[in-house]
Amino acid sequence: MAIRNIRTEDDEILRKNSREVTEINSRILTLLDDMAETMYAADGVGLAAVQVGVLRNVVVIDVGDGLMELINPEIIESDGVQCDVEGCLSLPGKQSYTIRPASVKVKALNRDGKWCVYKGEGLKARAFCHELDHLKGTLFIDKKATKEEIEKYRKED
Ligand code: NI
Repeated sequence: MAIRNIRTEDDEILRKNSREVTEINSRILTLLDDMAETMYAADGVGLAAVQVGVLRNVVVIDVGDGLMELINPEIIESDGVQCDVEGCLSLPGKQSYTIRPASVKVKALNRDGKWCVYKGEGLKARAFCHELDHLKGTLFIDKKATKEEIEKYRKED
C-alpha cells in the first residue's frame, strides 16, 4: 500500500470524465488499497480515483462506519433534500453549502466483482453524491446553494 498524491483544484484532470472499469485486475485492487490509505491519511470521508490522477470509475468512502469500495458506482434511487456544508480533499480550505438528496441508493461492483447495493442518508448520501460527481468532472463548488436554498433547507440546530 502507498499514499498517493492528491490532485488539487488547479489540476485539469479533476474536470475530466472517468471511464468504466472493465476488468478488476491487480492494478485496480492496488488502486483501491492506495486510495483507502490516502483517504485515511488525509482524514477524509471519501476519495475518487481521479483525485489521485486515475480516470477510472472507482471511489472509496468511510463516513465512520466502515470502508466502502465502489467500482463503476451508479445512483439508482434518490429521495428528499438536504442542505449542509461540504468540503473536498482536492480543494483544501474551501467549504460551501450544497443541496443534495437526503437519501440515495447506489449500485456498485465490489472488489470481488459482485454488484452490491448501498443505502445512505445524511452525510453518507452526501458522500455518495460528492464522490460520484468527481467521476463526471464535477466539483462541489459547481453546486453551491443559493442564499434562498440555504434558508429554506438548512437544518436548524
Ligand atoms: Ni471531493
